[in-house]
Amino acid sequence: VNVRTGAPPAWLREGLRASVDEVGAYPDLAPAREAVAAHHGRPVDEVLLTAGAAEAFVLVARALAPRHAAVVHPQFTEPERALRLAGHDVARVAVPWPFALDPDAVPSRADLVVVGNPTNPTSVLHPAPSLAALAHPDRTLVVDEAFMDAVPGEPASLAGRRDLPGVLVVRSLTKTWGLAGLRVGYVLGDPPTLARLAAAQPHWPLSTPALAAAEACTSARAAAELAAWHDTLTADRAHLETRLAALPVDVVPQAAAPFVLVRVRHGTSVRQGLRDRGFAVRRGDTFPGLGADWLRVAVRDRATTDAFADALGGTLADTDGDTLADVSPEESV
Ligand SMILES: Cc1ncc(COP(=O)(O)O)c(C=O)c1O
Repeated sequence: VNVRTGAPPAWLREGLRASVDEVGAYPDLAPAREAVAAHHGRPVDEVLLTAGAAEAFVLVARALAPRHAAVVHPQFTEPERALRLAGHDVARVAVPWPFALDPDAVPSRADLVVVGNPTNPTSVLHPAPSLAALAHPDRTLVVDEAFMDAVPGEPASLAGRRDLPGVLVVRSLTKTWGLAGLRVGYVLGDPPTLARLAAAQPHWPLSTPALAAAEACTSARAAAELAAWHDTLTADRAHLETRLAALPVDVVPQAAAPFVLVRVRHGTSVRQGLRDRGFAVRRGDTFPGLGADWLRVAVRDRATTDAFADALGGTLADTDGDTLADVSPEESV
């Protein structure tokens, strides 16, 4: 999984518990909205709070009327699913190894484009100019920044960019703050588009505890914790990459998120072998553009990574004797 271990921290849990005392009243979204707006240096009407990024994708799909939607893959599959469920055709823009975005690969007629940054599962961080090149007055550009708060200084984020037309930045508190069960995120964008999304929301779309979390996670205390975690994450990811470099696997370079994407031979057997040794990795075959030989590995502490790398080395040695004939056609996709 790609949710930070050890989160939510104790101070955040305490805040959530305290917010339960307020749940007798309907939630007031204003303070959290103001806090998020201040955090990104934007006016309040450029913030729409949502029940996680997942709600944002559904709102985009239901409230907007794209004629030519395009999703840049490989990436998280929920945005495409939401678009299809809302009745839209979706073109897939396949980004090949090493998964750097080429803006010219996106069809110019696409009037809705979804791209992840940094991208799940490749961990690739597309530079801001590549994304800015996709922004256009006749297009809605949805940038899923659910993992952006894992990137120190967020240099590639469009969250504070008010100069680009049609950009909707989707953020989530799920990953870094360990709040998957709370459902809290938001969209940043131009007020008319956000008003269209808001019109598709029910009243009181976020609970009082979720709003408390949004305020807490944009506080100075949260910023300090984030900065400390960035150092740990950077060191732990470098350690994972060093250990993986010593094994017969391909590692997608320049990982920026709290996970790393690798390619192995006989991925299905390797995944099973790791499971037998007590390690679960994320399968790659359910991501468009990848296949069973791709595995997403979470960044964990050094001891866990060492144990994992040993297990992966052992598993690869065991499966090395397999012939390609052992791999079924679906697995070799
Ligand atoms: C890239 C990406 N965006 C968004 C989400 C969903 O986030 P939320 O929990 O805020 O709905 C996920 C969850 O896995 C994700 O991987």
